[in-house]
Amino acid sequence: MAHLVLNIFVLSLTVALFINVTAVSVELKTNVTDRLQELHEIQEDLKIKSKQFETMMESEVGKLKEKVEFLETKIQEQDNLLKNCQVATSDAIGSLRNVEENNLKKTVLDPKTCLEARTADPSLESGMYFIDPDGQGRGDDPIYVYCNMTTGSTSILHDSEDSIAVSHCFEPGCYTREIKYNATLRQMTMLSELSNVCHQSIQVDCYDAAFEFNGVPYAWWNDRNGDPRYFWSGVNNNSSDRYHTCQCGLDGSCKEKSLSCNCDSDLAIELSDVGILLEKDLLPVTKLNFGRTIAPTSINRHTLGRFECNGKVVLNGMPTSCQDLWRIGYILSGIYSIKGSSNKVETVYCDFTKLPGDEELQTWIGYADVKSEPVQFTVARKSSFSTLNTAISFDQETLNTGNALNTSTGVFAAPRNGTYFFAFSSFAESQYSTFSVDLQLNDVTIANCVTSYALFYCNVPITLKLSRGDRVQVSLQQGSTNNAIFTGWLLAEDIFQ
Ligand SMILES: *[C@@H]1O[C@H](CO)[C@@H](O)[C@H](O)[C@H]1NC(C)=O
Ligand SMILES: *[C@@H]1O[C@H](CO)[C@@H](O)[C@H](O)[C@H]1NC(C)=O
Ligand SMILES: *[C@@H]1O[C@H](CO)[C@@H](O)[C@H](O)[C@H]1NC(C)=O
Ligand SMILES: *[C@@H]1O[C@H](CO)[C@@H](O)[C@H](O)[C@H]1NC(C)=O
Ligand SMILES: *[C@@H]1O[C@H](CO)[C@@H](O)[C@H](O)[C@H]1NC(C)=O
Ligand SMILES: *[C@@H]1O[C@H](CO)[C@@H](O)[C@H](O)[C@H]1NC(C)=O
Ligand SMILES: *[C@@H]1O[C@H](CO)[C@@H](O)[C@H](O)[C@H]1NC(C)=O
Repeated sequence: MAHLVLNIFVLSLTVALFINVTAVSVELKTNVTDRLQELHEIQEDLKIKSKQFETMMESEVGKLKEKVEFLETKIQEQDNLLKNCQVATSDAIGSLRNVEENNLKKTVLDPKTCLEARTADPSLESGMYFIDPDGQGRGDDPIYVYCNMTTGSTSILHDSEDSIAVSHCFEPGCYTREIKYNATLRQMTMLSELSNVCHQSIQVDCYDAAFEFNGVPYAWWNDRNGDPRYFWSGVNNNSSDRYHTCQCGLDGSCKEKSLSCNCDSDLAIELSDVGILLEKDLLPVTKLNFGRTIAPTSINRHTLGRFECNGKVVLNGMPTSCQDLWRIGYILSGIYSIKGSSNKVETVYCDFTKLPGDEELQTWIGYADVKSEPVQFTVARKSSFSTLNTAISFDQETLNTGNALNTSTGVFAAPRNGTYFFAFSSFAESQYSTFSVDLQLNDVTIANCVTSYALFYCNVPITLKLSRGDRVQVSLQQGSTNNAIFTGWLLAEDIFQ
């Protein structure tokens, strides 16, 4: 029975187990089928997706191909553009270089004088150059001149450099030749302003054609102002308007010793006067005038050299005018300090749009208060002082800039020429005694003060023009004081001594 029970138990256990296992396998089976189904579905899905991807990729690749083609054409275009650009740029650089070169040439070509050009570029060769004495970009146009780069000299060409025959006529100056320069008078004036020396040579060959005869002048030249001049060499160092001479007159070597020109001679022989006009403030020669050539045998020929200037104007010391400032190269209008005609610094306005000779170039503004060193003092005496005929000394020093006052001696010594102001103030120590002081300049009394009653102040204010080393002091004459104050300062200094 027990066995059966056991069997039944085992059987039921087995059945149970079987049922269980079957259930599991069924479950498993369903799971696997499910899975398979799922996988299949995924596979299908993937297939669709990959198909989609494929078509998408195909279209993308197509697009990319298009893009690449587009880019290739673009690159080609850029390449062409670049090539064109390179050509254009090299052209542009070329023309830029030309512009630059022209500008360079311009800066070299537009100096004020040939000397300036040579200074800027010592390698320049002698030849024709453009210069602009009155300044680039202002005044008259640049002028075309001959530059001797060895000497740095500037020559202005004109139409009368050859030997020219004077026509036959009798009256003084009946023959006139106007000299035509290849520059305006203004430019030539500015050139001479900037130059140290200017000259013009002149040769006159004559035969029975006197410059001057029996005191009558038949020949002269006109200066740049149009005024007649009768000297044919050197400088205008005679106050007479009719100053007449030639080089032989200056040398004492004229054919006729009593005359001052060879061509003043009435002798029927071939003569000539050669001279160099050196008066730069009168040059250039603007006209040549001759007369007394009426005789058919009379010969008069003139040869006028170029107007030539050299060197750089030298200022003697400090600039004294806007003109001086212009000469040394100032071109910006403004307020400047100059050495005044007094011995003070003056302030002027320079309008450099105007040129030397123009009144508006300089406007006077006023004196500039300039002191080489300040001089100011205030000193006092609080202790009794009673030594008569002696400078009152001081025991308190409030201010003593420049140490011009020696407090221990009471003597002021002017350190510089100039105008000084002084004020001395004091009163008597004892109430009823007379009190008197003298203010002395180099021991000579020039002001004084007397009080007879202590309540009155003794005041000595004074302004004095002093020379360097002059001594000023206040000397006690009567009574005594224990209360004095002395002050003074340099009002205006003679700055250019
Ligand atoms: C069958 O799947 C279900 C749910 O997906 C899970 O709980 C069960 O354990 C699975 N059976 C087998 C035998 O893997
Ligand atoms: C005169 O100057 C002009 C420029 O101002 C120039 O072109 C011309 O060649 C010059 N003439 C002579 C003879 O030098
Ligand atoms: C330059 O001037 C000097 C001195 O006057 C002269 O000797 C020389 O021949 C001139 N040179 C030229 C190139 O004009
Ligand atoms: C004129 O100038 C010369 C030299 O330049 C000089 O020797 C002469 O003394 C001067 N004459 C007068 C009158 O000043
Ligand atoms: C100045 O010139 C005049 C005219 O030529 C002459 O008579 C006079 O002697 C000259 N004076 C001097 C100081 O040279
Ligand atoms: C003042 O004068 C006295 C006498 O001449 C001199 O000894 C002293 O050095 C002077 N003092 C000054 C500051 O110059
Ligand atoms: C100062 O002034 C005097 C006379 O006024 C003068 O002789 C002297 O040359 C001027 N200059 C100097 C530095 O003293």
